[in-house]
Amino acid sequence: MTSPRKPIRKAVFPVAGLGTRFLPATKAVPKEMLTVVDRPVIQHVVDEARAAGIEHFIFVTGRNKAVIEDHFDSAYELERTLEQRGKTKELELLARDLPAAGQTSFTRQQAPLGLGHAVWCAREIVGNEPFALLLPDMLHHGDPPCLSEMITAYQEHGGNLVAVSPVPEDQTHLYGIVGVEDRAAKVSRITTMVEKPPRGTAPSNLHISGRYILQPEIFDLLERQERGAGGEIQLTDAMIRLAAQPDQPFYAVRFDGKIYDCGSKLGFLVANVAYALEREDLGPALKEEIAKLLQG
Ligand code: UTP
Repeated sequence: MTSPRKPIRKAVFPVAGLGTRFLPATKAVPKEMLTVVDRPVIQHVVDEARAAGIEHFIFVTGRNKAVIEDHFDSAYELERTLEQRGKTKELELLARDLPAAGQTSFTRQQAPLGLGHAVWCAREIVGNEPFALLLPDMLHHGDPPCLSEMITAYQEHGGNLVAVSPVPEDQTHLYGIVGVEDRAAKVSRITTMVEKPPRGTAPSNLHISGRYILQPEIFDLLERQERGAGGEIQLTDAMIRLAAQPDQPFYAVRFDGKIYDCGSKLGFLVANVAYALEREDLGPALKEEIAKLLQG
């Protein structure tokens, strides 16, 4: 086992992808800044990390992503204007979301060579400690939040963990898939991992849904990782090699909440409707509007 168990203090958010599925919206605006109701997607994911006790937020950004850095900074002129206009509620809202000075780090991937490469770019900032990794496209909506559940599982089991959730059997070839010792368990040891298995060969229908806790040894493997599926440096390929090492167990943590893939148009639209329906100020009116639309 990987002991003694170090706390998970840092989280990495890879936000350097091109977001081609969302063009032209993502030509000048990063897809992570598209809003689900009134919060950028990335803010929802940072909220999840904060709720799990993360203290340091590391963003791996790229060209055209500077606005993400601005979003997590104080906006002096805006704040003064709100103050002058007596907009205290809005000011409080901004203050609540603002990470403390020194709690954020930004590094650039320079070229979008793949998720594995983006994670590797965070190596110097993460250092020699286990860390959380959250894919911002994938909104995990549940109570308790996904990363909180994973940290609880990490405290018990240690090692490396990935959140998993079932996908339809005919879609397993689109995802990273794991085989586990006990399908019924909330937390189970992973026996196999495969990135986008050819149809009919998947070890299960449990897909890696975008939340990870990884040991820092992953960085050495990523450094030497060759390009895989799609010509990109794949994180799953490096995780497979890490799992093959002694003392690097991998566990699957089944997430029972809802997952919205905000990197796809449909997932993004559904997320907006679902999150808005839950809001007291919007839900009832939106429901009526949707009913009207559906009636034609
Ligand atoms: P995706 O493949 O979903 O993102 O990567 P993408 O490449 O931006 O999307 P499309 O397919 O072109 O529409 C999953 C996550 O990994 C990040 C993305 O920003 C996203 O959060 N990523 C991906 C990087 O940071 N760097 C990369 O080189 C690739």
